[in-house]
Amino acid sequence: MSLKMETIFHMAQIRTRIVAGLCAAGLCLALLAPAAFAATGKFVGDGGIELDAPYVPTPQPVVDTMLRIASVGATDIVYDLGSGDGRLVISAVRDFSAKKGVGVDIDPVRIKEANANARGAGVTDRVTFHEKDLFRFDFSEATVLTMYLLPDMIVKLRPQLVAMTPGTRIVAHDFSIPDWEPEKTEQVGTATIYFYTVPAKK
Ligand SMILES: C[S@@+](CC[C@H](N)C(=O)[O-])C[C@H]1O[C@@H](n2cnc3c(N)ncnc32)[C@H](O)[C@@H]1O
Repeated sequence: MSLKMETIFHMAQIRTRIVAGLCAAGLCLALLAPAAFAATGKFVGDGGIELDAPYVPTPQPVVDTMLRIASVGATDIVYDLGSGDGRLVISAVRDFSAKKGVGVDIDPVRIKEANANARGAGVTDRVTFHEKDLFRFDFSEATVLTMYLLPDMIVKLRPQLVAMTPGTRIVAHDFSIPDWEPEKTEQVGTATIYFYTVPAKK
């Protein structure tokens, strides 16, 4: 059974504290670092790239609920920030008839996987995956934005999220947007889904 990202996040925080303590005692950090973490304390993806969040796929029932809560339909352009194996955008176009799906992931292994999955699902004409840092990626054309990212990443993204076109729907898995009351929350097993609509500008 795969670990939830919340659990991995807490493990990473504890590990950072332990490593910091051991380094202060003069021990070599490189020997202590498990494969999934860089010496910087960041996560390392399968492609050997440093990640801001580890790869933990959203279970399919949670994917389906996220897209249903956002009322994804034929006029929607769905972006997933940190798109993993592409399941959110692939499901959006295949199962919810979205016009277009776009994913961005910094890990080349995930992009390869997502493209293979899009081919398998027969949706390559409607989905695109970009191998990029999501913090340097323009997602302003999204009508629906999905994310399963860690809290510090969401804090960093917040100014861009609130500045999106009014009416854009945002769905977050497990980690909410700080200081923004969700319009709806839904529980699927142990997962919490947070739903927001970007309000009209004042
Ligand atoms: C928790 S997984 C979520 C995967 C997918 N969205 C899902 O819900 O199944 C987070 C993803 O973010 C990617 N990621 C981490 N840091 C990133 C960054 N700075 N830019 C783009 N992608 C990143 C990871 O490679 C990973 O695939």
